[in-house]
Amino acid sequence: MMKLDYTTIKTPAYLYNLDVLRQTLKVLKTEAEHYAYHIHYALKANNNEKILEEIADAGLGADCVSGNEIKEALKRGFRAEAIAFAGVGKTDEEINFALDQGIFSFNCESLPEIEVINELASKKNTKASIALRINPNVDANTHKYITTGIEENKFGINLWEIDSILDRMDNMKNVELNGLHFHIGSQITDLDTFKNLCNRINQIQEKFYARQIIVNHINVGGGLGIEYYDPDNELIPDFKSYFKIFHDFLELRPKQQLHFELGRSIVGQMGSLLSKVIYVKKGSVKDFLIIDAAMTDLIRPALYQAYHKIENLSSQSTQAVKYDVVGPVCESSDIFAKSLALPSSKRGDYILIRSVGAYGQVMASNYNMRDAAQVVFIE
Ligand code: LLP
Repeated sequence: MMKLDYTTIKTPAYLYNLDVLRQTLKVLKTEAEHYAYHIHYALKANNNEKILEEIADAGLGADCVSGNEIKEALKRGFRAEAIAFAGVGKTDEEINFALDQGIFSFNCESLPEIEVINELASKKNTKASIALRINPNVDANTHKYITTGIEENKFGINLWEIDSILDRMDNMKNVELNGLHFHIGSQITDLDTFKNLCNRINQIQEKFYARQIIVNHINVGGGLGIEYYDPDNELIPDFKSYFKIFHDFLELRPKQQLHFELGRSIVGQMGSLLSKVIYVKKGSVKDFLIIDAAMTDLIRPALYQAYHKIENLSSQSTQAVKYDVVGPVCESSDIFAKSLALPSSKRGDYILIRSVGAYGQVMASNYNMRDAAQVVFIE
């Protein structure tokens, strides 16, 4: 994957490949510009400052889920007018801060939230630009922890609530309904799922149209998945086919803008986690490769049973051996892979865990008082 003398790097280390990031941004921009689509980068996927600066430089907007993410986005060069603010639990302090910045949109998830935004905006004698985050009840067919668009989830406004919320909003002078927002989940690899979303949005738009409401923008959230099994085969996600689905199936009204909030597909493949084998431990059924990275550095396998490709960079062996690849943390779930066939490995070998640029470093903890993995940029 990369020509790099990894033996000089203190492990565990997140390696961020800036060439991959830049190429991804280039393709993303070209494909989005083709349809004049607007892209907001979801900071939650990776908030490393250099990565944010690269993405802001490329001209993308930002999708934030906390006041601190908004502050960071502004600091790294994202424009306030291109910041969307999502989340089911925005606090008064966060709302006030976002109001002062004049952000693009508060993506609102409940009536009580809209009421508070209206009240706080009124105190400031201003008008908040809002979008209703609607739960379209479309199944994303992904892991249950990252499915958000079905009714049992905490996210969004349910379809049956829309009318009563719009009735209430008629009396609110300090919120302006500018958009409709949808986000059904993450790591979606079956593009038909987005087709279902488009069809549902078309129906929902009819409902608003019947009340003579045409919003300025539709925001379809993020969710485009990446290739975890064979990353080198698709380092850059297929943005072309993804956008074409929306172009072909979403019925935008004249002058209505389409916005996206992509995280994983922008930064996922540019990151790898470099680690070293501390011990090879004999087990009764198979051996354990105990490496110096742990669930504290990358929690996805432990939390979602997520698959990440793992490579041994040092072994020259042609003999394949099955290992459980585990970290040193005192939790049985601190496992990166079970029964994984790798070339025969030994203490000191370098192990590379692929596709960790999104939801890797940002979800790290210092459980067991472990040090944070360092970050190394590759160009
Ligand atoms: N917009 C909203 C409202 C979201 O909640 C998310 C992600 C995104 C955009 C960006 O979605 P993406 O393009 O990255 O799929 N930690 C999990 C993923 C959680 C996703 C949360 N929301 C994981 O490691 O798989």
